[in-house]
Amino acid sequence: MQTHEIRDRFTNHFVNLGHTAVPSASLILDDPTLLFVNAGMVPFKPYFLGQQNPPFENGTATSIQKCVRTLDIEEVGVTTRHNTFFQMAGNFSFGAYFKEGAIKHAWALLTNPLEEGGYGLDPERLWVTVYLDDDEAAEIWEKQIGVPAERIQRLGMEDNYWSMGIPGPAGPCSEIYYDRGPEYGQDGGPAVDDNRYLEIWNLVFMQFERGEGDKKGNFEILGELPKKNIDTGMGVERVAAILQDVDNVYETDLLRPVIDAAQEITGSVYGEKHENDVRFRVIADHARTAMMLVLDGVTPSNEGRGYILRRLMRRIIRSARLLGATGATLEKFISTIMDTMTPSFPEIADNRERILRVSATEEKAFLKTLESGTQLFDETAAQVKSSGKTVVGGHEAFQLHDTYGFPIDLTLEMAAEAGLEVDMAQFDKEMAEQRARAKADNKAKKHGHVDESVYRDWVDNNPTEFFGYSDLTGESTVIGLVSNGQSVTSAQAGDEVEVILDATPMYAESGGQTGDRGRLVSGDTVLEVTDVQKIAKKLWVHKATVVSGGVELGQKITSEVDSAWRHGATQAHTGTHLIHAALRQVLGPTAVQAGSLNRPGYLRFDFNYTDQLSDAQLEEITLIANQAVDRNLAVNTIETSLDEAKKMGAMALFGENYGDQVRVVEIGGPFSIELCGGTHVDSSAEVGPVAVLGESSVGSGARRIEAYSGIDAFKHYSKEAALASGLASSLKAKPEELPDRIQSLTERLKSAEKEIQNLRTQQLLANASGLLEQAETIGTTTLVAVTLDGVSGADLRTLASDLKNRLAGQSAVVLLASVDGDKVPFIAAATPSAVDEGLKSGDLVKTFGQYVGGRGGGKPDMAQGSGSDVAGVDAGFAAVRDVLSSR
Ligand code: ALA
Repeated sequence: MQTHEIRDRFTNHFVNLGHTAVPSASLILDDPTLLFVNAGMVPFKPYFLGQQNPPFENGTATSIQKCVRTLDIEEVGVTTRHNTFFQMAGNFSFGAYFKEGAIKHAWALLTNPLEEGGYGLDPERLWVTVYLDDDEAAEIWEKQIGVPAERIQRLGMEDNYWSMGIPGPAGPCSEIYYDRGPEYGQDGGPAVDDNRYLEIWNLVFMQFERGEGDKKGNFEILGELPKKNIDTGMGVERVAAILQDVDNVYETDLLRPVIDAAQEITGSVYGEKHENDVRFRVIADHARTAMMLVLDGVTPSNEGRGYILRRLMRRIIRSARLLGATGATLEKFISTIMDTMTPSFPEIADNRERILRVSATEEKAFLKTLESGTQLFDETAAQVKSSGKTVVGGHEAFQLHDTYGFPIDLTLEMAAEAGLEVDMAQFDKEMAEQRARAKADNKAKKHGHVDESVYRDWVDNNPTEFFGYSDLTGESTVIGLVSNGQSVTSAQAGDEVEVILDATPMYAESGGQTGDRGRLVSGDTVLEVTDVQKIAKKLWVHKATVVSGGVELGQKITSEVDSAWRHGATQAHTGTHLIHAALRQVLGPTAVQAGSLNRPGYLRFDFNYTDQLSDAQLEEITLIANQAVDRNLAVNTIETSLDEAKKMGAMALFGENYGDQVRVVEIGGPFSIELCGGTHVDSSAEVGPVAVLGESSVGSGARRIEAYSGIDAFKHYSKEAALASGLASSLKAKPEELPDRIQSLTERLKSAEKEIQNLRTQQLLANASGLLEQAETIGTTTLVAVTLDGVSGADLRTLASDLKNRLAGQSAVVLLASVDGDKVPFIAAATPSAVDEGLKSGDLVKTFGQYVGGRGGGKPDMAQGSGSDVAGVDAGFAAVRDVLSSR
């Protein structure tokens, strides 16, 4: 049975039972605790916690959620059941049915005959586990379903108590396993062997809320959830492996074609050698995960989600090379996986080109990295060997990693091939130091990856009400104060403190728009707000300094947004939408937004695009944006459902959740329609001029446009005009004549420099005969050894060549050194008869170079080098004299 059909049967089964079918949420939800959605229940969290009412008839829903888990990345392909991307099919009950319903529904789907819409699995092969003291579940399995007692096993917290791994909904669970037969392992059920007995479905009886805890199973139960709920997760790819009777999840209809493509490209054969099989499986698994991540808007980068994507892509490329591929491979794998996944995810079709482009760009960059990293590695290895050692330094390995993005396992592998080891202790130490530095950096920066647990209670129970779209001031109550990561009850003049209010007009940084600035005032108390950040989409944190008086919990306070600041940020934000719309008109719809920043007077817009923009394209984008200003288009904001927004053609739909109300910002009807929570002007003329400064590259596959907006744009233009008129008057030209004038000046300067150079050379050569007078004779050889002042390496060469020619009839050597700033260029030249006698200029510069801290090389008749130690010049000459006299 094809995976697509397995999905359909699942959905039909539960829809027939009255569940609402909910489409998969994006892999990227704005939840600070999660990098990616990692379970089917994640988008439903607010309903389990009772924060929101489930909008589903009957209180039941079903979904097939895209999930990514990369914690087990090293396990991929080594075991036969780990996918970094997988589809979790689930049914959910929010206070409707409980254990009995969940067990019956799952059993029916698994064991109903194919013609009745089930999967037709043999009930004799199914085993179940329940939580230690969950007699209720055990009894349902035994008495109502008829599973024999010996195939029901009881396991502890570690296995049969499910939570997201963080505080939140939790509960005991019951898992269903399929016995793949004795060829896969020993008898004894899932408690003994989870390879032979493959877990296919987890039924979670979600009725508790868990607290903090470090390990799985090691946490406190805080209390009961408002209702008894059901959360289940069936592994679609595992069921597919069983129903398609293949050995593992990498060989199902969705992934096997990638393995086939890899065989074709690399020439290696799947199924011959375990080590290679792992690589094939890594390619198939990672290609799919990478593709699905790019589909949901992730681009490769060096941190967070982007880094995981990059790592996946690099592992694919490397595995393919280890299997024997030489050129680019990623595009082929990604395109193969898009073919197999499109029937279930039709949106892939619209994004095909973009996904391929991101992949190709990343691969190109990594292949370059591999090349330069390999070269550096080879040099390092050669040095290690020539010094008689066998260990590559940990520092070098770290540099390969840090500068060239060379994965350490690659360094280890290459070292092994060269018969060397790597100093891992030192490598680990430098990695740890780097992590510590990064952590310190992050702490200093806003809330990036900092521990947010101090805010958790307010996020869950007192989310901030924002009224700043309509008002810039208002009254509210201080409900929280945080100082140095700790909750406090008051703060005094001079303190820096984070203030949490029940309601605020201050915009918190999001969607690229900077947080508001402003003041919090209450009687004598004044706080200066220097930034506003948002936690978990819900909590506004005002970073403030207490200027006078004191602030305490429960205090009533007036918030005043700095209106000039807000006006500037608002202009910039609408300006960004104008630039985005203009960009898509000029470059087409594949230029997808990758990030933006809007602060008063300045905007920046990053987008996925591989090519540099031409001046003409930039000019056109600037013109279209400013024409939109000139037309004074109306700006409207509309609150609507995600579906409705999609129908309107709104851009940037990543990170939104099913059932979410979204905010659409529309400029001039179809000119620009975007999902956006930012603040905007009422009509486009208020943005003022938009002055594009230029575009640049920001990492692989992404480019950046920067611009000034509003009065800053005007100031920018007027500064440029003043600059041009200043230049014009000092060059005594009209501004429009400047380009020609500057070009002719540059040309004149160049030819003057050339003339000076010629004169210098002539002068130098005129003195050459004077230098010959300093010639000395050592044995049978004439030596001219002279130090000059301020002569460049190039001029030394001219001079040495001239002297050599003048001495051509005899065995003679010329050795010149110069003190040129902090450099000591030097040169040796030998006449033909000196060369015949075995004197090599290359050897002489090597000898000399040792004394001036430099190296050099060349041919026997002429060799050149450069050092930095002036004090060694005389000793260098002496050493060369020694060489000559000891012959
Ligand atoms: N949420 C449960 C799981 O991920 C079903 O296993």
